[in-house]
Amino acid sequence: MLPAILIILATLLTFGFWSNRNQTKIIRQHGFYRPPRLPNSCLFGIDRIALIFQAAGEGWPMELFLRHFTLWGSTLQHRFLGVEALGTIEPQNLQAILSTNFTHWSMGSREKVMGPLFGRGIFTQSGPSWKHLREASRAQLASRRCNECQIFEAPIERFLDSLSRTKGPIDIHPKILNLTLDITLSMLFEEDTTNDPVPQEFSDAFNDAQFILAKRLRLQEFYWIVNGRNLRRSCKIVREYIDKLVYQRGTKLDCDPILLRDQIINLLVAGRDTTASLITWTLFLLVRHPVELKKLQKELQESFPDDSRINRAKLRSCLYLQDVIKEVLRLYPPVPVNSRTAVRDTILPVGGGPDLSQPIFVSEGTNVAYSIYALHRRPDLYGMDAEIFRPERWAEAPIVSNETGYGEWGYLPFNGGPRKCLGMDLALTEAAYCIVKILRAFPGIKLPVGERVCVVGNEKQSVGLVIFSGDGCRVSLNDEE
Ligand SMILES: *[C@@H]1O[C@H](CO)[C@@H](O)[C@H](O)[C@H]1NC(C)=O
Ligand SMILES: *[C@@H]1O[C@H](CO)[C@@H](O)[C@H](O)[C@H]1NC(C)=O
Ligand SMILES: *[C@@H]1O[C@H](CO)[C@@H](O)[C@H](O)[C@H]1NC(C)=O
Ligand SMILES: *[C@@H]1O[C@H](CO)[C@@H](O)[C@H](O)[C@H]1NC(C)=O
Repeated sequence: MLPAILIILATLLTFGFWSNRNQTKIIRQHGFYRPPRLPNSCLFGIDRIALIFQAAGEGWPMELFLRHFTLWGSTLQHRFLGVEALGTIEPQNLQAILSTNFTHWSMGSREKVMGPLFGRGIFTQSGPSWKHLREASRAQLASRRCNECQIFEAPIERFLDSLSRTKGPIDIHPKILNLTLDITLSMLFEEDTTNDPVPQEFSDAFNDAQFILAKRLRLQEFYWIVNGRNLRRSCKIVREYIDKLVYQRGTKLDCDPILLRDQIINLLVAGRDTTASLITWTLFLLVRHPVELKKLQKELQESFPDDSRINRAKLRSCLYLQDVIKEVLRLYPPVPVNSRTAVRDTILPVGGGPDLSQPIFVSEGTNVAYSIYALHRRPDLYGMDAEIFRPERWAEAPIVSNETGYGEWGYLPFNGGPRKCLGMDLALTEAAYCIVKILRAFPGIKLPVGERVCVVGNEKQSVGLVIFSGDGCRVSLNDEE
């Protein structure tokens, strides 16, 4: 432990000192403003990391970031373990990072931080290797015809069947993770997984590994402190299981088998966790909003009077269902916080000066974190009821005109620019399909008696790479009374 502490201190001193000095020089030379700075009460900003870990442990890390932005401004600077970093929830800045000046930014140390699980898959790569993987994934997705929803049918039938006999309240969250895992594996391997169910051990290891990686991400340059036996064990279980599947299915290996496995693991997180987050939060919010639930059930009854085939076009034509999904993605964007690292000196268009509207300078190597969760709760973009679940807002005129780019860059549940989520259309169809099936199978779905209800956002949250409810999602499905 002592050597680790000494290395940290030495790195903090040299790295922090030099990077600050260079930055100060350029800012003076060009007359740039600085964004507001979060105050530190402790040397090197150790208090910041302590607070972030405390908030994560207690289930309110996203609310902590939201409060920071509310109190100090939409773009801010903070000292984080001795290193200056930026945070922003400014649509114009996000547009610059994700699109206009895309090439000035990389995934930073993500390959090292998330490597144990994600390897060299699409989420850790930048530049040419990312481009290559992106094209390959796009081709793979295009080859799956999911417009008619057949891929979802067998998994959802198994899922509904396993729930049909439950009595009393159940936590539906782990069941939904099972469902989206089932769907994603059927898609990746182009066949049904019925014959040998996915072992619970795999799902548990997959969850654990993601939570440990989220801790490493929070530590940034000091990620290597968290590299315990648990992480290695979890990643080993995940890798071995995927290898077994690849081998069993006799997948044609026209590429490096390690790269193939890495890529499958990346797509599993994309397919299983994010969609499960969307479906679970939808049910979580609907059982707590009976008026909206009734309204949606009425629309679904009218749109799907019998067991006629549900397809993508029909799902798209259920306008209230679409608004409910947009609203859930606004309040709980599956990947609620993300970051990029500047690969050269660059500029963000707004955030400095007396009215926070002046460009700010960003030196090479600076990390910029952005919170989609906080962006989506900005009252100046969404109104005074921004923190309230109200699907109807999507059918009204927007608060801010679209000319400034707010329409596109103020709502980013699937990210934006060249790295925008490739599976967006698939995820929206899959989630809509599953929600319709669940609501139709359990018309009496409701909040169990005595279940905690609080203001949206104040519930306990569990944030690994994806945001889930920290207390699961308990619902009553079949109770008669
Ligand atoms: C500071 O600037 C000098 C040259 O101007 C450069 O060699 C050095 O790498 C920079 N250091 C950091 C930490 O950016
Ligand atoms: C998920 O599915 C596996 C088998 O596919 C089963 O063993 C496990 O109990 C399921 N988990 C839950 C929470 O239903
Ligand atoms: C992109 O970066 C360049 C160079 O740093 C800067 O001049 C320009 O304003 C930036 N563009 C946007 C849209 O931020
Ligand atoms: C807002 O503008 C963007 C492009 O500037 C466009 O893609 C998007 O569809 C517009 N949204 C609305 C609601 O008009």
